[in-house]
Amino acid sequence: MAGSRPGVPGVLGASDSANVPGAAPPEWRPVFARVPRASFIPAVIWDDDRRVVRRDREPDRWAALVRRDAPVITQLDDGDASGRGYVSSSASMPTVVAMMLAELDVADGMRVLEIGTGTGWNTALLAARLGSENVTSVEIDPALAAAARRSLADAGFRPTVATADGMAGWPENAPYDRVIATAAVQRVPYAWVAQTRPGGLVLTPWGTAFHNGTLLRLRVHGDGTGSGRFGADVGFMWTRSERTPHGSVEERVLPEHDSDASTTELHPYEPVGDFDASFAIGLRVPAMLSTVVHDGPAADNRFTVYLMDPATGSWASWRVTPETHGSYQVRQHGRRRLFAELAAAWRWWEGAGRPGVDRFGLTVTRDGQYTWLDHPETPIGPPTDERPHPPR
Ligand SMILES: C[S@@+](CC[C@H](N)C(=O)[O-])C[C@H]1O[C@@H](n2cnc3c(N)ncnc32)[C@H](O)[C@@H]1O
Repeated sequence: MAGSRPGVPGVLGASDSANVPGAAPPEWRPVFARVPRASFIPAVIWDDDRRVVRRDREPDRWAALVRRDAPVITQLDDGDASGRGYVSSSASMPTVVAMMLAELDVADGMRVLEIGTGTGWNTALLAARLGSENVTSVEIDPALAAAARRSLADAGFRPTVATADGMAGWPENAPYDRVIATAAVQRVPYAWVAQTRPGGLVLTPWGTAFHNGTLLRLRVHGDGTGSGRFGADVGFMWTRSERTPHGSVEERVLPEHDSDASTTELHPYEPVGDFDASFAIGLRVPAMLSTVVHDGPAADNRFTVYLMDPATGSWASWRVTPETHGSYQVRQHGRRRLFAELAAAWRWWEGAGRPGVDRFGLTVTRDGQYTWLDHPETPIGPPTDERPHPPR
């Protein structure tokens, strides 16, 4: 999706001036007032429970969903009606849109590339601020791109909206002063850096299989590299090629699987639930998904944390009940010892003084990306535990 956590939706309000999110900096406030979000929301949307809401049948509900300071779901399963209900496009949460536009730090005359046009609302905000001729947006889904072009034209904007895989940027209109992605990546494509002028910025939601994610702000240098730090807590849907595999615990953790049993004093609360800790663990332990399954109501405090690597079929379970307070059973199956990897990464994070997300950064070069702590010269080296390194 495209919001910040925890997701308690606020309401923007009914009047036009109330369409301006509180997070919008002064120079953006008239732009938000001029470009109402509702003009870009399709007639068919979905609510938080994935129930369809049609504007012609339930106009008040539709309007109420659009007015909230929350993402509006505008497509499921890439438009495939027989899908599982995966959110594949949304109009981002207004507060997050405003925060990201503030972080983008644009000035008059700048040229911007946006990845993930979606409804076209953010594209319109950029076009209203910088002029349509300075805005290029790339959307991978042809139906969404066509709808966004129509909404933009109806609102009087004519930016370039390309139907393409935005992981390649859009070299035709490069160089850009700013690149902004409104879908999350695990690897920043070098094309985004290469198509940005030296001194320019690349702003993208970034995460790992274990943790999605934070906002990454890269400064592009004269040597063709980009580097910068992680910051705000934002939860965006992945770009299509970066999606983590679907599938349930039942499909991955089978009764016939052999597993080793052990116990640990480590409670999942911090390694899995703490924002900074789980971000750091995700940097150290690649391709590890996690899911929490409660036996009943969450308040009963009976649950199992599953760690899974679909590529190797490895999994670990980590059982918490009130009776087992202080000693938790762990089972591990497969080539990767996922709990051991997580515990080693946790110890590393504690040993490093429990650094917050904003002490971590990332550098992108022609050869790929690497993460670092405090400074690009202190990369986060490979973990010390023994384990295979599956391709990501
Ligand atoms: C959160 S939505 C974008 C929200 C949008 N900026 C708005 O204001 O409505 C993410 C969008 O990224 C698109 N997307 C996903 N992968 C992409 C890719 N590789 N290239 C371009 N667009 C992509 C999705 O189809 C989706 O429409």
